Amino acid sequence: MIKIIPVASGKGGVGKSSISSNLGICLSKLGKTTVLVDLDLGGSNLHTFLGERNPERGLGSFIAQWDNNRSLENLIRETRVPRLFLIPGDSLIPGTANLPFYIKKKILNDLSQLVADYVILDLGSGTSFNVLDFFLASQTGLVVIAPETTSILNAYSLIKGALFRQLYLSFPGKSQERQVLKDFFSHKLEGSGTNLKSIVKDMEGINPASALKLHHIMSRFYPRVILNQGRTDYDLKLGMKLREIVTRNLQIDMEYFAYLPYDDRIRLSILKRNPLSLSVPQAPFVEVLMQMAQKIIKMPKEPLQRYYEDEDIQELQQIQSLLGQSL
Ligand SMILES: Nc1ncnc2c1ncn2[C@@H]1O[C@H](COP(=O)(O)OP(=O)(O)OP(=O)(O)O)[C@@H](O)[C@H]1O
Ligand SMILES: [Mg+2]
Repeated sequence: MIKIIPVASGKGGVGKSSISSNLGICLSKLGKTTVLVDLDLGGSNLHTFLGERNPERGLGSFIAQWDNNRSLENLIRETRVPRLFLIPGDSLIPGTANLPFYIKKKILNDLSQLVADYVILDLGSGTSFNVLDFFLASQTGLVVIAPETTSILNAYSLIKGALFRQLYLSFPGKSQERQVLKDFFSHKLEGSGTNLKSIVKDMEGINPASALKLHHIMSRFYPRVILNQGRTDYDLKLGMKLREIVTRNLQIDMEYFAYLPYDDRIRLSILKRNPLSLSVPQAPFVEVLMQMAQKIIKMPKEPLQRYYEDEDIQELQQIQSLLGQSL
């Protein structure tokens, strides 16, 4: 079975593409066939991190000229690293466009059927539905943070948005359960001393089986946070701080997966089009990524999640503005 590893962040520029590309190289070096996918729609640049030339055709044009009968497989390119492949992006569609749900579903289905061990999704930053839905391809997606307050707060919003989206998509359209979730996440959470345990109680009043389902989803949702560009002991502790907020407000667990040090050579390696994991494999940044890759290989793989459709554009817009206010 293939494992999909989404890499997301609440705030931009924290290091998602640097981590995705070098993690991909580490997994390939460990003998695993890995496909890197540039899903930063509108801001795609993953190929530059690998030192690959500009793509003629990428995911943007594939989506812009959507054809249900074509598979993503046609976009795969080899890279100069053995066992590492790339599905490049291009900016033919604006990153802000909400993709229809069936397109996201087909992209994830195609990816889950590739003949590979790992698929790494380099996502855009923020909490758009595109980001959330691709992030939910796994229960254990990677969230990258930098040692700054805004990055931590935005990461919390991302985790909260992803959890809401997963709970929401687990119930059918127009169901009472979806309404309860919408009300709770937009009005009740935070500041009022309420946490997510109380939504399980609210749901029990409607349908005990749905309450159980909520509880089950929340206990399996387990984001893994990576603090990147760390320089001090204080930075190291910021990851713990995020964990504290997530546990307190959302009642879910989160793993503090890795602490990656700041290294100026990363920026230079992009300019030189030679990834750090190839040019300086002994750099601490690369060593930690190698340990991460080994950890990932040891983890059990999970099947792709199945969700109810979400095709009600009006409702989507309403939720987006509700969540926007409270995220
Ligand atoms: N550990 C690090 N140490 C020093 N610089 C880093 C580190 N990680 C990333 N950078 C630098 O930070 C910048 C942003 O990194 P990157 O493009 O990987 O972030 P991103 O999250 O993918 O950004 P975007 O949201 O724009 O896609 C780059 O110039 C990169 O060289
Ligand atoms: Mg990026």
